[in-house]
Amino acid sequence: MYSRRQRANRQPVFLDRLSCELRREFDEIAPVYARVRPASEAVLQTLHTFLLSHKGMTVLEIGCGTGNYAIALTSTDASIWGVDFSLGMLAVARRRGKGRRVTWVCGHAEQLPFRDASFDFVFNVDLVHLVAQRRTMFIEALRVLRYGGVLCTVTKKHEHIRRRLLARYFPSITRVNTERFPHLWEITRVLRKVGFHRITWSTVTHEIPVTPAYLESVRWKTDSVLRRIPEREFREGLAAFERDAKSGTLLRQSARVFIWAHAPGQCGSTL
Ligand SMILES: C[S@@+](CC[C@H](N)C(=O)[O-])C[C@H]1O[C@@H](n2cnc3c(N)ncnc32)[C@H](O)[C@@H]1O
Repeated sequence: MYSRRQRANRQPVFLDRLSCELRREFDEIAPVYARVRPASEAVLQTLHTFLLSHKGMTVLEIGCGTGNYAIALTSTDASIWGVDFSLGMLAVARRRGKGRRVTWVCGHAEQLPFRDASFDFVFNVDLVHLVAQRRTMFIEALRVLRYGGVLCTVTKKHEHIRRRLLARYFPSITRVNTERFPHLWEITRVLRKVGFHRITWSTVTHEIPVTPAYLESVRWKTDSVLRRIPEREFREGLAAFERDAKSGTLLRQSARVFIWAHAPGQCGSTL
């Protein structure tokens, strides 16, 4: 996808050890992930509303995983692209999205395999805490965005992390996640530094029941934080969680923050 000149000027980005491990983890859990980690309805609705109010956009999801969002958004008139570094996750996305208008590409968030100014809207969901060089990822997002384009980063606030139901059963996840997830102000500062402007945010929070699929996603550690706590804590926490979930009345909070940032563009741009 690069022009010859761009390719000549770009140095390859090598995955560090932790990113290689992470990619291997996602390769392994891909089939289970697709089964037990559906899209968040609230996130989908926000992205959907945005795309419906901006006609005919070219859209990229970075870290598209098994295609939860990219596939659902084909119900709009946007042209959708999904990029991910895990071939396992992409294979599942391709299968699930068969016949839908999504172009799947294997690539690294820190070196996106697209030409400059290719997209009107770039978004990522539950990715930013996993990327080693966030600044580089945002520079890349800005590079592939068109004049006046929009980047939306969907992540969790520390306040959401502390309030998670799972933290009652697996206490270490709060520490691990507050270390991994950047603060909202950190993300905002980096976005501003790399050249984005008009940065705003909004939050969605709602309570949803603990379903059998959610229990299974915990059992399979599809949330990578569960792979980063002691095995004994995991086993004991899981037993207690399964016991409490049997009542069928457990509720968990699904919460995300949307960080909207604009690429430089015309004053009064419609995006
Ligand atoms: C938690 S999953 C989220 C998937 C999807 N956005 C969703 O919400 O269903 C994170 C995804 O990001 C991908 N990922 C993590 N780091 C990446 C990187 N540096 N470059 C490209 N993809 C990456 C993983 O392979 C995984 O598919």
